[in-house]
Order: sequence, then structure tokens, then C-alpha cells
Amino acid sequence: MSAPAAELPVTVSPLSPGPTVAALLADAQPGQTATVRGWVRTRRDSKAGLSFVELNDGSCLSNLQLVLPHDLPEFDSRAAPITTGASLVARGEIVESQGRNQRIELRVADFVVPGAADPDRYPLQKKRHSFEYLREIAHLRPRSNTFGAVARVRNRLSHAVHEFFQDRGFLYAHTPIITTNDCEGAGEVFTVTALAAAKLAEAAAGGDFSGDFFGKHAGLTVSGQLEGEVYATSLGPTYTFGPTFRAENSNTPRHLAEFWMIEPEVPFCDLDGDMDLAEAFVKSTLAAVREDCAEDLEFFAQRIDKTLPETLDAVANQEFVRLPYTEAIDLLKSSGQKFEYPVEWGHDLQTEHERFLTETHFKRPVIVHDYPASIKPFYMRVNEPDEQGRETVRAMDVLAPRVGEIVGGSQREEREDVLVERMKGQGIDPASLWWYVELRTYGSVPHAGFGLGLERLVQLVTGMQNVRDVIPFPRTPGHAEF
Ligand code: 4AD
Ligand code: MG
Repeated sequence: MSAPAAELPVTVSPLSPGPTVAALLADAQPGQTATVRGWVRTRRDSKAGLSFVELNDGSCLSNLQLVLPHDLPEFDSRAAPITTGASLVARGEIVESQGRNQRIELRVADFVVPGAADPDRYPLQKKRHSFEYLREIAHLRPRSNTFGAVARVRNRLSHAVHEFFQDRGFLYAHTPIITTNDCEGAGEVFTVTALAAAKLAEAAAGGDFSGDFFGKHAGLTVSGQLEGEVYATSLGPTYTFGPTFRAENSNTPRHLAEFWMIEPEVPFCDLDGDMDLAEAFVKSTLAAVREDCAEDLEFFAQRIDKTLPETLDAVANQEFVRLPYTEAIDLLKSSGQKFEYPVEWGHDLQTEHERFLTETHFKRPVIVHDYPASIKPFYMRVNEPDEQGRETVRAMDVLAPRVGEIVGGSQREEREDVLVERMKGQGIDPASLWWYVELRTYGSVPHAGFGLGLERLVQLVTGMQNVRDVIPFPRTPGHAEF
């Protein structure tokens, strides 16, 4: 009654792979034949001589139901390896489903199991596993509903990043991963060296890396901004999108040692333009996901965070609040709210302060701007001191409900003399960044930009609480297994 198994191809050209499960569920019609390839989520055998298999191929959250009649040739032996986690190729006819959970199902005429998954050992059973456990099996967790959905949303956001900037004529510039500068000046650079341990200890002790591969101390980039400024002040609006590394020893739900950052940089632009860009950018990527990942977002709203639709509406439909840092401090102080960390002009905002502003007070994203100069890096444009003689810089952070800071940016200091003074004040030798200073010597222009951490954006959009669960293979202190 069916073709022999050998005729059912396990491999298929990626150029003409045939419809995915997502495509079949969307528009397959009864009577049409289809071949599907994926992994078994569940199998159930009925007394009526049928086996029901839920097959997932990653194209969407939903599984395709396969119905396998037990009178297929050598069914018992051939179907024995069809268990949770096994791979399966199946061909058959699309029929209207008798069940009420799906419109259609595949009546299987032929199948092959390329790889079994021993049910006694397969680590991803049909029950709910904790996220902590799933992190230990990061090689299998994308086969779970949550991590499949995260991966699809992350993919769509990444594409939306390029769409947003390419549609506006921004140039995608590849900035280096190995650098000799510490853009943020926070001393969180991972060293890159070709020196053997003994020589490295000697070089580090003497601060002399002239014998190392690059002839000076090199590290993994903490930001592509400085090099981004080079391209922006030559070629116009620019953006980077790449991996970023920070050797900070923080074990928080928001920090990774390796994360992906998007950094636009715009010449002839001030802080207001920068804030406009950041707001439009966040809204545009969110709209793309809402348009194209509706099923996944519904899953997150049901299973991860019930308040997600509300939060996303607030981000999408309301203007972001723009709040000078000094006013933010006044607001927090007069709020009557008890905070663990004291609210003091000159101190950075803590998570609890950010959450009060975005979740309790304004209930939408808030852009805090013009921060004290003392807590911000050297490259931010210095303001005139305020009436009390306090110095601020043209910085802005976009704070989002639940996630906190998702964007950090600024107008850049374009005045050479002011920049050089700021560098000296922060213990940075201007000669070590001579090329950066020279952008101000030759044809300097006001310019501005920001950095958005992709993982924080994925957290915002999905409601996932821990940043380790929105990147495929998280790197954090003590963790780089996969
Ligand atoms: O605020 P940051 O440190 O700013 C910069 O690096 C600037 N050079 C950006 C620029 O102006 N071009 O980082 C920017 C964003 C943060 O707002 C946050 O979203 C993300 O990068 N980020 C992290 N994400 C995950 N783990 C970490 N350890 C992060 N550190 C920063
Ligand atoms: Mg920041």
C-alpha cells in the first residue's frame, strides 16, 4: 500500500525543501501530499490501530499531527524508534483533522527514522523543565517550546535591525573584535594574548606588552563605538551589529560576558536626534516581531509573562518619557518610596530606581538624559555646569519596564580641547587614542549614537526574565560549556 522506505529521501535540497510545518499549517489543503522532516515531540498509540505523533520542525511553535496506521508494512519494528526526541521523515496525505486542536493532519503512508533517541536517556522529556536545568542542556534546549520561540523572535529582531537601518540609508560597518582600546574605560576588557603564561605574567606586571602579538595590550572589544565614529564622520550614518565582550564579574539576570550590541552613529546629530532615533528603532523592531511572530508572542504571554501584551502596548503606542537625570533624582526622592540604595545626585540609578520610574510611576519606557559627568565615559559631550555648578554630560539611557537599561548613548564630545581634558581627567592618555582625537582635529562635527543590547531587547519582547535564556549559548562567570 505504500512505497518502500528506501524511496523516502531523508535529505532534500535546501533550495527546494518543500513546505515547512508552518507553511502546511497555514495553507495546506486536504488531498495534497506532503513530506515533512523534523523531531518527534510526543507519540500516542490508540487501540483503534493508529499512532498519533506530534512533529516539530522548528518553523513554528505548533507541531504537525501525524497519523500512522498500524497496518503500514512492518509497522511495529519500524515504528519502535518513534519516541520523543527521535528524528522522523514522513510522507502522506493532508487530511482534515478529526481532533479539535488542529485544522489538518498528515495521514502517513511512509516514514523513516534517521535517528532514534533512547527514551530512557533523552534529557528533554515531555514535562516542564526548569530554565536552570535547560541551561545545562543548552545543546538540546532549542527543541523545547520556549527556546524555539526565543530563537525565532531573536532571529526576527536581528533581521529587523538591518531592515530599520538599511531602509534609512545607514551603512553597516564591521568594527574590530580585537582592539587595543577600552571604549567604556571600565577596565572590563578580556585580554587577547599570544604570550605563554610566564611571559604574560611578566608583561602584565611591567605593563609592557611590546613582546606580544600586537606589540601592545590587546583585548576583546567592549564596544565598536570609537571605530563606528570613524566611519560615521566620513561616510554618514553608520551602524554596527556584532558580539561584544565584558569581563565584569556580575551574576545578574541582565549581564552576560558576551552579548550582541547594535551601535548606530550619526554625524550632524545632537542628543535630541539620538533619542528620536532610539525610540523609533525600538518601536520598529517591536512592530516587526508583533507582525511576524504572533504565535510565539502569544505563547510568551500565556506561559512566561501574563502582563506582556500590556507592556508591549505601552512600548509600541506611547511616547517614551524624556526625563533629565536631575529631575529623575528629585522625583525618586519625593516619591515616598523606600529604596534599598540611597537616591543621591551623582550616583548611578539602581535597578529598583529604574523599575520605579518605568513600572510604577510612568508605566512606559523612560529616557533619562544629561547624567553627572563623573559617572559617564570620557567621550560624552560636556554641558555647561548647572546653577549649582554641577557638571553633566549629554548622555541618555533608555529604561524599559522590567528590563531596565536597554539603550545607552550620548552626543559625543566634538571639541578637541574639551575631549583631551576629559580624557586626562579620567586617566586616559590622549596619545593612546590619537586617531580618535584626530577626528576632532580634521573636520569635526557634532555627532551622536547609542548602543542597544540585543539580549535586553529580546527580554523586553518575550518577557523572559533571565538574559541567559535569550542567547543560544550564554557566557557568564564560570560558564562556557557549549
Ligand atoms: O551602556 P553601554 O555600556 O554603552 C556603550 O557601550 C556605548 N559605547 C554605546 C554607544 O554609545 N555606542 O552598553 C550599551 C547597551 C546597554 O544599554 C545594554 O543594553 C547592553 O549594551 N549591555 C549589556 N547587555 C548584556 N550584558 C552586559 N554585560 C551588557 N552591558 C551592556
Ligand atoms: Mg550603559
